[in-house]
Amino acid sequence: MHRLIHLIAAARPNFMKIAPLYHALAKEDWVTPVIVHTGQHYDLNMSDAFFRDLRLSEPDIHLGAGSGSHAEQTARVMMAYEKIVIEKQPDMVVVVGDVNSTIACTLASAKILYDALPNRINYKVDRPVIAHLEAGLRSFDRTMPEEVNRIATDVLADLLWTPSEDGDANLLHEGVAKDKIVRVGNIMIDSLEMMREHIVAADTCQQHGLMPQGYAVVTLHRPSNVDNPETLVKLCELLMTTAQRMPVVFPVHPRTRKNLENHQLLAKLEQAAGITLLDPQSYINFMNLVFNARLVITDSGGIQEETTYLGIPCLTLRPNTERPATIEQGTNVLCTTDSIKPHIDDILAGKFKQGKIPEFWDGNTAARVVDSIRSCLS
Ligand code: UD1
Repeated sequence: MHRLIHLIAAARPNFMKIAPLYHALAKEDWVTPVIVHTGQHYDLNMSDAFFRDLRLSEPDIHLGAGSGSHAEQTARVMMAYEKIVIEKQPDMVVVVGDVNSTIACTLASAKILYDALPNRINYKVDRPVIAHLEAGLRSFDRTMPEEVNRIATDVLADLLWTPSEDGDANLLHEGVAKDKIVRVGNIMIDSLEMMREHIVAADTCQQHGLMPQGYAVVTLHRPSNVDNPETLVKLCELLMTTAQRMPVVFPVHPRTRKNLENHQLLAKLEQAAGITLLDPQSYINFMNLVFNARLVITDSGGIQEETTYLGIPCLTLRPNTERPATIEQGTNVLCTTDSIKPHIDDILAGKFKQGKIPEFWDGNTAARVVDSIRSCLS
């Protein structure tokens, strides 16, 4: 039986999670993968550039949800996607990561698709309909909107593909049945390996006058860091002191740019010696900056994982992480603006910890996901 699978893509960190899976499914003759872009991210450099770099064609379906408060954005995606689910009746909806569109599409499809299943036995589902890729991650910090999205998505999804052992353990602890959990590994590493040749061949670092291994890459966009003016001032001071030790390159997320502007901090950073502010970069250009960096300072989830895979020191400006493997096994450290300096000293002195790559972060995650889908649907 031929199957229709929706792959939900919404925001920048989603595109590198659906791309390898889309390419792997497109090679199979028993399934048609369809990309549904919710429109949560819509700027050219937050969305289209990633489709281009990751060799994805235009999304098949675009919901145009746009920005808004959490409830507004989530509700707009739900309302738009509900219509699509009713019309198209996909056999499976694959959601990735932890953004508002992840829970919105999960919730919208759960209310429609179970009801439409042909062989319902005592109202139990006889095959999985909603699958979550990157399931089981927990920061245990409910002030993070993403944590709420993760918990709610994992409760509803009936196939939970985890990237690492802690994901399995968290789900089992929450009472999820063992047979719903499949450890597939880290799909973002598939994107990185798929694009490695292009990343290495790019000259982003030279274009900005940066010496390989001689600069820091910075990304900051979490509301907890950039929405509070006092925190933002401290972060700017950190960047300026770091820039006295080595050049700093900082691709600025739209949320962060807006807040820097509102608090008259943008011009200060622009004028600071040693700091290069850039617009958000495409996947290949950004990864080229990371590949060649001496160290990374970030609050992103995905970059903690990419640096662990590449063995690059990563200083994460957050009190917690939903990706503990990057700390326990990898090259990541959690810190604050007050505690970061000794870590930078260690990195520059060559004394920073060496990491190892977690199991199944190997570029073959999409193949394991396809096997998992085939065993459920074909
Ligand atoms: C979202 C995700 C976050 C993810 C991040 C990556 C949620 C709750 N958050 O946060 O998990 O790490 O994406 O970027 O889903 N904006 C633009 N252009 C765009 C997109 C956004 O200008 O293409 C501006 C809008 O003014 C918006 C602000 O950036 O108000 C924040 O965007 P939003 O999608 O609400 O959340 P992110 O901070 O991007």
